[in-house]
Formats: sequence, structure tokens, C-alpha cells
Amino acid sequence: MTHLIRSFEEYQAAYRRSVADPEGFWGEVASDFQWRRPWDRVLEWNFTEPAVKWFAGGKLNVTENCLDRHLAERGDQTAILWEPNDPEEHYRKFTYRELHAKVSQFAHVLRNNGVRKGDRVCLYLPMVPELAIAVLACARMGAIHSVVFGGFSAQSIADRIRDAGCSLVITADGGFRGSKEIPLKSVIDDALVQCPSVRKTIVLTRSRSPVSMIKGRDAWWEDEIKKVETMGNPDFPAEEMDAEDPLFILYTSGSTGKPKGVVHTGAGYLVYAHYTFVNVFGYQPGEVHFCTADIGWITGHSYILYGPLAAGATTLLFEGVPTWPDAGRLWEVVQKYRVNILYTAPTAIRSLMGFGLEYVQGKDLSSLTKLGSVGEPINEEAWHWFDEHIGGGRCPIVDTWWQTETGGIMISPIAGVTPTKPGYATLPLPGVQPLLVDENGREIEGNGVSGNLCLRFPWPGMIRTTYGDHERCRLNYFATYPNLYFTGDGCLRDQDGYYRITGRVDDVLNVSGHRIGTAEVENAINLYTDVVESAVVGYPHGVKGQGIYAYVVCINHQRDEDLTRRDIAATVTRAIGAIARPDKIQFVTGLPKTRSGKIMRRILRKIAEGETTDLGDTSTLLDPAVVEEIRAGVLVTKGG
Ligand code: WT7
Repeated sequence: MTHLIRSFEEYQAAYRRSVADPEGFWGEVASDFQWRRPWDRVLEWNFTEPAVKWFAGGKLNVTENCLDRHLAERGDQTAILWEPNDPEEHYRKFTYRELHAKVSQFAHVLRNNGVRKGDRVCLYLPMVPELAIAVLACARMGAIHSVVFGGFSAQSIADRIRDAGCSLVITADGGFRGSKEIPLKSVIDDALVQCPSVRKTIVLTRSRSPVSMIKGRDAWWEDEIKKVETMGNPDFPAEEMDAEDPLFILYTSGSTGKPKGVVHTGAGYLVYAHYTFVNVFGYQPGEVHFCTADIGWITGHSYILYGPLAAGATTLLFEGVPTWPDAGRLWEVVQKYRVNILYTAPTAIRSLMGFGLEYVQGKDLSSLTKLGSVGEPINEEAWHWFDEHIGGGRCPIVDTWWQTETGGIMISPIAGVTPTKPGYATLPLPGVQPLLVDENGREIEGNGVSGNLCLRFPWPGMIRTTYGDHERCRLNYFATYPNLYFTGDGCLRDQDGYYRITGRVDDVLNVSGHRIGTAEVENAINLYTDVVESAVVGYPHGVKGQGIYAYVVCINHQRDEDLTRRDIAATVTRAIGAIARPDKIQFVTGLPKTRSGKIMRRILRKIAEGETTDLGDTSTLLDPAVVEEIRAGVLVTKGG
């Protein structure tokens, strides 16, 4: 790897170069890749449409770069290590050669089932190696994958399948997460009632719980594999793809409407995932990388699969949860596989902290060399606990700020290179040009300032469009401030020029590192028979970072309140999934609104945070008395 940054001076030099000559910089980075045809132009862009093209005219296949090109040098090295949910079950591993063969085989399965280049395929699977295989098989044959996290409801999946027009769904009978079994196929059956575009489903056997199988539509994964075996397991040559052909769609929540399908394209995304993986984590050949995210989120796409595999690393896939069978599970896994790089979320750290040190003690964590955090601001207490008790004080911690839309890490220390500061994502990576703006879009220069975080120049991993609705992409990210990409995050730049992300400034919540739109939760709550209207805000939660607080106006006040709360929570779970269940529901007779009918969330947020005196200016309220009532009835939220 020729672009590994080894000192702070090298970082500064790379950064300067990336700003002075972005095309030269990224062109050099991308030349490490295997191209079928070189690009004509490194970058063409404008942020007004927006239209961004990286490596236009170039041809390649992402899996050739993640698999084929490693075969000669490290074909027998482990590519994927898999730790099952149940520690008693045997682990599995795949060398690069084996993974290559499996991906090739499953690409045939996809083709045999009518999938063609450019078709959309929905994946709703547990965290098993077959998920990685299916993702890569899509990439190999040029199909666009849309992975949906296994915790989403049938309704959410149906929305995503319809939006993308998926023709095939890959799922499993059921999946295991901790002590729970998730009936994946049954959820898919419910979803497909609303999805006429789906012609086929392929069902992996995992839990072997009984499932319905519909003739002509549903086929078993294992049977489909046998058919390819009887064909003699022919190789599946990687499809030649244009640099800007879409690689995948990943749905994420915004402040309005239904989740949008963020589209990433092949070349730029892979170059960026690879570059950031090796540099941020200071990846050394032979290291074992363990990212605890689910492949259903961007973190899993970029740092379980594409980044590590492009680098020829050994990546660990974990099916289970950190707290089962007990709160020592992650440390067990680190010990078992001699993990070197551990990349996890603050919410997991806080939750494990709460169980006490006895689950860490006695575990051999000496293999760890680097630690990473992602998904939300990491509080200092969690940072120090992670540093001291997991890293033994010897592992650099990288607090990595980025988003589904950025494709890869944007602001982060480079492990062992950038001096860290707890709570700070520190400095932009090469190629990343952040700026802070005020409400009017005026740049706030200098240090020791706060504002809204924007980016003024494209980077290879950036979002290209929102699937099926380019205007939505423009409005969401490029219209708030002309000629800038707006992240939706608030940010502080301190005296040293270090960046500290302070949280979303839009109506988006971050619950346990998962992004949830308040409007989505409100719409789900409003489905409940007795609900007239609702308003959802976040409040500080000790483990989740943010909890979901719902103010709900109901008819039928005579009903049992606790039962109604549970019914509403069940309604939300049914509509979105358990991750969107409100933590607190307060029944109110009205919501604070301006004369024009706009809900004043600022006030509701303050009340939910436990602020009782200073609610700011309430003079524009239609009915100030309603605030008094809400304040009197507030559910205590201090400390989560
Ligand atoms: C939002 C993006 C990127 C993978 C996981 C989440 C917040 C993310 C950090 C961090 C403070 C962070 C931001 C961002 N966020 N990382 N290190 N420090 N906040 O992806 O679901 O697209 O959410 O997560 O608010 O906008 P996502």
C-alpha cells in the first residue's frame, strides 16, 4: 500500500496536496486499483444539480478489486472470520480463494434467477457469511444491492423494496440475535404482499424454523447452489462496470418524509472506503479487523466488507450482540481471534461499562492495537473507559465522524498519527474540506467557533443521488446553502482547529447510533386509532445517547394510560421496527404551536431534557397555557 500516512507531517503534506491538486491526489490513490480501462477524467462536478463523477470513463469491477486481485498474493489468507451468535456453535472462516469461489457461485444463482446488470436486489439477512457473499455476488454481476437491517418491520421493507423496484429478495428462514430468534422470512412474506416487483426470493436456512415457501416464487439458497454445482461450478467472470454505475442503495432517514435511498457508485466509493480504512486504522498486513456494526448500515458496508476486503485484510463478522450470553462477549471474541483493530459504537461502550469491569477482567486483550468509535459523539467517560480498560492505555482511539451519505470516514484522527482529544473527531482526512456556516450560509472562519457543518468540495465516496428522485437529493443536501453539501450536523472548531461534532441540527434523532427521523416516528404514532396528533423529540439518554420522547394528543382519555402507551409502542414497532419505539410517551391535551400552526419543538425538547425554568421565548405561542400543562406532567428523563 503506497498511500499509508505514517506521521503527522505526512498527514499535513497529504492534506495540502489533496486540496491543491485533488485530481492528482485521488488519481494516484486510485491507480493502486485494478482497472479494466483507465478513466478519462478524475473528477467532473457541480453542486448545483448536483452532478458529481469520479473517474469518469473508467471501467472496473469492485469484486475484482476485493477478491480476484488478492488471489495471487494472499489467496490462502483468511478474508472473513465468522463468529456465530451462540458461542457453542462452530465458527467459520473463508480464505480469499474460498470467498472468491462462493461469490462466483452465488453470482450464477442470481443470474439463474433472472437477475441482470442494473437490477435491484433486496437483502434481508442475519449477520452470516452468506450476507457478505450475496452482497459481493450482486457487485460481481452488476446488480445493485439494497441491504435492509434485520430489525426493520415488514412495512419498512416493503417501502424500500417498492422505492427501489427490487426484483429479487434474499432472506433466511430466521436469524439469531442474543436470546432472540427473528422470523425473517415471515416478515418478508408480509412485506411482499405489497411488492409486485418481486418475482423471486431466495431463502437461506439458518434457524430452520418452519416457514412458508411459495411455488414459483420462493427457492432455497442451498437448492440453488446445488444447481450451480451440477453446472460444474463455472467461474463467474466479473461484469465490466462503469466507474459511475451504481453499486448499492442504502436507505436512511431524514427530517421529512420516508427514508431515502442513498446511492453510491462503484469506483469512487471503493477507492474512498479503501483509502480511509487503511489510513484511519493504520492497517498493517495480517491484522484482524473487527467492526461490530451490522452490514445493514453503512458502517458495515464500508468497514466490514468493502474497505477491509479491498485492502486484503481479515475482517470479522459477528452474528450476535455485545451483551449475550453476557456482557463479556465482545472481549471473548477479541481474545478468541486475536483481534487487532476494534471499531465499535459509543452506545455499546456505555452499555458494557454499566455491567462493570468483571466482564473485562481475565480477558486477554493484548492483541488490540487500534480502537475506533463511530455513530454519535463519544462522551469523555466512555472514551477514557475504552482507552484504559479495553485499549490498556496503549491503543490510539479514532473517533470517526461520517454519514451514510459520505460513504466513508471524513473527520477523524489517523491512528497513531493525529494527536487525539477525547470528544473530538479532530481533523479532516485528506480530500475532505469542511467549513462551518451560520444560519444564513455565511462562512464562520477562524478557530474557537461553532456552526453548521458543510463540505465545499467533492470526495470520491460521496452520495450521487437519492434513488428515483434526484431533486430530493438536491433539496436535502445541496439547497440549504448554495454550492455546499450540508451535513445536518452542528459542529465546534476549537482553538487548535480540532472539530467536535455536537449533534444534529435538523429533526433527526440518533438513537444508539441509528438515525431516525422524528417525522417518521410521529407518522407511525399517528397511525394508532386514538391519536389525534403527536410530536417527537430526542432527550439525553445514558446508554442510547438519545432517547425518543413522544408528546401525544389522544381522544378517549378514559382508557388505561399504560396500556395505551404499550399499544402505541407496538404500533410504532409494527410500522418501523423496534429501534423506533418511543422510550417515553406523555399524554397531553395540546401541543405548543405558533399562530401559523407550527409545532415549537424547541420548547418540547427543553421540557424533555428536564429543563423546567428557562424555556426561551414563548410569546409567539398560540396558547401559552399548554406549556404549563406539559411541564407539570413531564416524565422525568434525567439520566435516561
Ligand atoms: C450521523 C450519521 C457513519 C456511520 C454511522 C452513522 C452522527 C456519526 C459520529 C461521530 C459525532 C457522529 C452524525 C451524523 N455521527 N459519527 N464520530 N461523532 N456524531 O451513520 O446513520 O448516516 O448517521 O451520525 O450526526 O450526521 P448515519
